[in-house]
Amino acid sequence: MSSIRKVAVFGVSLRELRHPDNRRSPPSRLRGHHLHPTCRDLLFLFHLQPPRSFPTEAGSIVHVADYSDVASLTTALAGHDAVVSVLGPGAMAHEVPLVDAAVAAGVKRFVVNDFGWGQNPRSYPEMVEVGARRHVAWDRAREKAASNPGFSWTGVTIGNPIDWALRRFPRMGFNVAEHTAIIYDSGTEHFTGTTLAGIGQAVVGVLSHPEETANRFVKVRSIKTCQNELLEAFQEEAASGKPWSVEHAKVADLLEGGRQKHQAGAPGWILDLLVAQLYEEGSARCVVAASREDSDADLLGVREETAREVVAKALSQ
Ligand SMILES: NC(=O)c1ccc[n+]([C@@H]2O[C@H](COP(=O)([O-])OP(=O)(O)OC[C@H]3O[C@@H](n4cnc5c(N)ncnc54)[C@H](OP(=O)(O)O)[C@@H]3O)[C@@H](O)[C@H]2O)c1
Repeated sequence: MSSIRKVAVFGVSLRELRHPDNRRSPPSRLRGHHLHPTCRDLLFLFHLQPPRSFPTEAGSIVHVADYSDVASLTTALAGHDAVVSVLGPGAMAHEVPLVDAAVAAGVKRFVVNDFGWGQNPRSYPEMVEVGARRHVAWDRAREKAASNPGFSWTGVTIGNPIDWALRRFPRMGFNVAEHTAIIYDSGTEHFTGTTLAGIGQAVVGVLSHPEETANRFVKVRSIKTCQNELLEAFQEEAASGKPWSVEHAKVADLLEGGRQKHQAGAPGWILDLLVAQLYEEGSARCVVAASREDSDADLLGVREETAREVVAKALSQ
């Protein structure tokens, strides 16, 4: 396959492109590639700014296209070598038209929307149901690759997006603002995660190694860790500041509470079950790659990070 130069990214928000860090160059996660991010925010801007494509502050070109209209998406994707989809869970219905448009436009590689646990056989049954929504587009990409020799796909399985998730979800056990921790069971269950920098590098790695990454899920990790190790790192980072206070809880209680919410149709059950399966002792439910050698990290240029580095990133976000 010839090299990939021009990449369309679906799901990078205009807010992100306007972030001060991104003003002088495309988002660092994908620096080095020619980006054409698209975003539904721009449907609004389109009414204010009639041209159908225009440069952003980040120096990239933004196209306006209707996600449900394969013909309009095909026009927007003409001349692109690759598509990366990082659309949010609410946009899963758009994924199949995106794949169809990419094939019609002659795109060579479609990075399907995973950035999660891939086809994790150890997920709780309730989580398998949630994941099934994105499998429809994965299956479409497989089907299209089988019948179109110039088209291929890759899924990027990253496990826990760890620095972002630690900061965003105190339910994971670390309340970064309050310096309070909840350690589930013994705190020794290991899981794997990838930092935002690692996720960006993984995508760049896929686009830079199209042959080796064609038609498969790549397994990515920045770290294999456990709650106790992360707590120690948080405490070391806070050595001269406010100390962390620690409580203990049981995974079984978290799981039971989450399942009750699920049965009652109440919100919050997905996060409860995600955290329970992360820390369920002896299950290795959330290990994408048990060792670095078992992952694609070296191929993709994703480096292993220490718990201290990961928590420093979580604290700085
Ligand atoms: N491994 C994990 O545990 C984990 C956790 C979270 C996310 N992820 C992955 O990260 C990626 C992004 O997820 P997220 O939760 O961060 O997504 P998000 O913030 O909800 O949305 C990301 C992008 O998708 C667009 N979008 C969302 N809903 C849309 C809709 N109905 N129609 C059109 N565009 C829509 C958003 O557009 P606007 O800017 O216009 O809103 C935004 O640009 C996904 O691949 C997801 O699987 C993984």
